Amino acid sequence: MTTILGISGSLRSGSYNTALLNAAQKETIPGVEIEAASIKGIPLYDGDVEAEGIPHEVATLKERVAQADGLLLVTPEYNNSIPGPFKNAIDWISRPSSDVPRIFHGLPVAVIGASPGAFGTTSAQTAWLPVLRTLRTRPWFEGRLMVSRANQVFDDNGELVDDEIRKRLREFIEGFARFAAAFGRRGQRA
Ligand code: FNR
Repeated sequence: MTTILGISGSLRSGSYNTALLNAAQKETIPGVEIEAASIKGIPLYDGDVEAEGIPHEVATLKERVAQADGLLLVTPEYNNSIPGPFKNAIDWISRPSSDVPRIFHGLPVAVIGASPGAFGTTSAQTAWLPVLRTLRTRPWFEGRLMVSRANQVFDDNGELVDDEIRKRLREFIEGFARFAAAFGRRGQRA
């Protein structure tokens, strides 16, 4: 079984990005399990807090990343870049830096996102690249999924109602899971 941990980078209850992650979870792909994680409860990074110990919510998310074969970042876009709360969560789980090799080095990572705008998080996805490089992850670039006009792709209950996006989402997950299985930390070619 290949386990992909998806993290939605939005705190909003009606989030299109959480809806996209939920839609990915609903696709039944043999040999692939998608777990969904939230950044809810992750405090603002503060070195003084860190000095007293990693907060429980951070430690929990961090260990879920450590256990996964692949990490799927489902990113909103704010001002053409990464939303602060999402970057804050990844910053937290990169602490202490002595843990970065265990958590991130060689970790297969893919990025998708949804926006009501016309460009579907293109800029935010690009903005993640230096972060993924710094953490020495193993990004997957063979698939791209930018869900634009998200207000037409999901209904009021957050259900995916666009068959073309569903097909592309499924292909993306299948491709990323194959990569994570083959090249991930537990893969034969790791
Ligand atoms: C946005 N939004 C936005 N959308 C986009 O496509 N490009 C952008 O640069 C921005 N900038 C931006 C800044 C700020 C501060 C906010 C709050 C929002 C709109 C954004 O895509 C929209 O709010 C989405 O619904 C956010 O994702 P969730 O919460 O639906 O997952």
